[in-house]
Amino acid sequence: MKHLIPSMLMAAALTACGAKSSSTGGTGPTGGGDGSGTAVAPPGGGGASTADLLAAETAAYDQAKPVFDKYCAGCHAQGGPKATDKTLAHLDITSYPFGGHHVATMGPTIKHVLGIDGSKPIMPKNAPGSVQGDELALVASWAAAWQAADDAGAHPEVDADHDHDEDVDEH
Ligand code: HEC
Repeated sequence: MKHLIPSMLMAAALTACGAKSSSTGGTGPTGGGDGSGTAVAPPGGGGASTADLLAAETAAYDQAKPVFDKYCAGCHAQGGPKATDKTLAHLDITSYPFGGHHVATMGPTIKHVLGIDGSKPIMPKNAPGSVQGDELALVASWAAAWQAADDAGAHPEVDADHDHDEDVDEH
């Protein structure tokens, strides 16, 4: 009996950290191991690292920022010449993560208004469809990174901001 316990624990640990990415169940510790029981020690506690995903999102945003500045800031950043309470309430790109009432769906919403999801572009308001080519690709990359982070639960819950430490800053 005593021999079974360590290998069972090890199998449990491997199952816990390998469940998400490994589809082949047969590559586990078939032989019971050689006694080095501390080999499996996942740092993040399971699943994809939300810190990595947020870092990737921030990096993608850094790439796309010039596009947002060029096409959107005039109406959607504080101090923009055409920014109003209404435009800022929808989307505020003054700092990152963005603000505004679309924050919970920011990636898909921006994909939608720019037509990246296949719909007719409706932004920029004064020139819909003007974001094209490489610039549009940068925004699409950012939206994909945003989505990956969101899928992993890396974004704070919007409706629960009173009991959330918004610890998203990567500096
Ligand atoms: C000339 C001003 C102007 C510019 C430039 C502009 N917007 Fe807007 N945006 C608006 C206004 C006004 C609204 C409010 C909704 C409306 O009137 O269509 C809005 C609404 C939005 C919304 C909310 C849409 C919805 O369905 O609720 C999003 C998202 C958005 N803008 C994204 C962008 C992005 C991204 C850019 C840059 C590519 C951009 N906007 C550029 C004026 C602008």
